[in-house]
Amino acid sequence: MTAPLDFHGIRLYPGLIDRPAQEALVAALRRVAEAAPMFHPETRFGKKMSVKMTSAGAFGWVSDRRGYRYEPRHPSGVAWPPIPPEVLAIWRQVSGVDRAPECCLVNYYSESARMGLHQDIDESDFSMPVVSISLGDDALFRVGGLARSDPTASTWLHSGDVCVLAGEARRAFHGIDRLKPGTSTLLPQGGRLNVTLRVVT
Ligand code: SIN
Ligand code: MN
Repeated sequence: MTAPLDFHGIRLYPGLIDRPAQEALVAALRRVAEAAPMFHPETRFGKKMSVKMTSAGAFGWVSDRRGYRYEPRHPSGVAWPPIPPEVLAIWRQVSGVDRAPECCLVNYYSESARMGLHQDIDESDFSMPVVSISLGDDALFRVGGLARSDPTASTWLHSGDVCVLAGEARRAFHGIDRLKPGTSTLLPQGGRLNVTLRVVT
């Protein structure tokens, strides 16, 4: 494995996952979505998020009128399916920690979806990294600092890229400004999947 790039404090592994492994991941994530169907979460203010999401693992991340939080069950009441072994292998490869992730959040971006600048701060141990996997169309990823007003830098994430938010960058503001539709043939319906792995407790 080649050394990661430092992008604004984030460890970036461009092209870490080759095409056959990306296809195996997509198949595994499709099985996750069969067990725990994707849904469009609402924010606390009743606004629908543009991404669709589901989760695997002991906890899933949900958002609704009651706010956002980790839950042990899908909104339908079913337990989240286990995190696929192919996904756990990537965590072991790049996370640098002994604990296993407890949440595998799967976000689907259609061509017009985006993710506003935010911090990942709903977990209790910030010494545990966040590992983020990109599959499908290219996405413009923006990273800032620990304050929303800090300067930001942007880079395109491609299918098979993996990011690790650890150390100083664990709580950095980040988001997805837009996709570049049609840049990947991985997903037959187009768009992008992002898989985010986190230790929650
Ligand atoms: C997220 O921060 O939840 C998603 C980031 C991404 O889609 O790359
Ligand atoms: Mn995030």
